[in-house]
Amino acid sequence: MPPKRPERKGITRVRLGEINGLPNQRRAAFAALALAPVGAAFRRFADTRRRLDAEVERLYDLSPDMIATVGFDGYFKRLNPAWEHVLGYPRAALLARPFIELVHPTDQEATRCEAARLAGASGDTVSFLNRYRSADGSYRWLQWNAHPDTEQGLFYAMARDVTIHKHAEEALEQQAELREQRITLGTRELDEAQRETLRRLALAAEYRDDETHEHTTRVGAAAALLARELGEADDFVRRIREAAPLHDVGKLGVSDTILLKPGRLTQDELVLMRTHTEIGVRILSGSDSPVLKLAEEIALTHHERWDGTGYPAGLAGERIPLSGRIVALADVFDALTHARPYKEAWTVDDAMREIRGSSGTHFDPQVVKAFERLHPASVLALA
Ligand SMILES: [Fe+2]
Repeated sequence: MPPKRPERKGITRVRLGEINGLPNQRRAAFAALALAPVGAAFRRFADTRRRLDAEVERLYDLSPDMIATVGFDGYFKRLNPAWEHVLGYPRAALLARPFIELVHPTDQEATRCEAARLAGASGDTVSFLNRYRSADGSYRWLQWNAHPDTEQGLFYAMARDVTIHKHAEEALEQQAELREQRITLGTRELDEAQRETLRRLALAAEYRDDETHEHTTRVGAAAALLARELGEADDFVRRIREAAPLHDVGKLGVSDTILLKPGRLTQDELVLMRTHTEIGVRILSGSDSPVLKLAEEIALTHHERWDGTGYPAGLAGERIPLSGRIVALADVFDALTHARPYKEAWTVDDAMREIRGSSGTHFDPQVVKAFERLHPASVLALA
């Protein structure tokens, strides 16, 4: 015989057979007694559920974010009050029309695509941004997070009004764009200012001994043509056009008595005159500007000769930088074909005869050939 289980205090254990043997009234009383804990649990569950529903409902009503249940048919099914606050329409009006009608025309296609993607998605939450027309006709930027319920044919969506952020973002982008434009403009102005300064420096150098002040500009233009004819890169052509006019900038350091002397210079005067190459280097050196570096090279070497008898270093052949060999020819051609206080202007033919005769002695033969290909008369017309 199994041991008798001790009865717990307050609980009456009743076997089914015992209940069946009782009269109906007693049986009902026993059943009610037995089911009482289940009923209490159910009531507690129902109370909790009601409380939770009320809380959710309150949060739904109070949320500043716009909460919507949207049908796959394109109509809102349920909206919280935030929709009225943000867009200014009564909720009934919003529920009565397809939501796409409120979307900005530019954003409609993208919104349709997002909705289609969402309807076909396997439970993914989709985020996107679009503009909704409010009752006053303006558009509000809405940031959406939406989740599909394909069984119910519904989207559960939450939209946040990010118009202020979007406008701030656009203002910042515009500001950055404006800053970029100002920098570009400033750089362009700076480049132009630098070119202008170089032009004025070249003008200052020739101011005393060239009444027309056009010699330096012509030498720059002829040097650029020669550089291009010799196959040099565009960047070098541009730089030599700007640098070559400064070839005689060192004349700023030569006294008027020598520079403006009408007759031939004595040997001592010639030595002083020749210092303009090194004075030019002192004026132009130490710059990071590629144009000024080239100008320094030209100032130093434009009186070197191909056969090594030039000055100041007596360099020969290709030891003379190409820029110096080019400007040497451009400078002499321009000096010969224009009048000076001590001489008449030569004809182009005479000047070319002189230059051709100095090919291989004074001038680089390749530079002379390139110059002939350019038709010197047209170079003269540069002025
Ligand atoms: Fe010179």
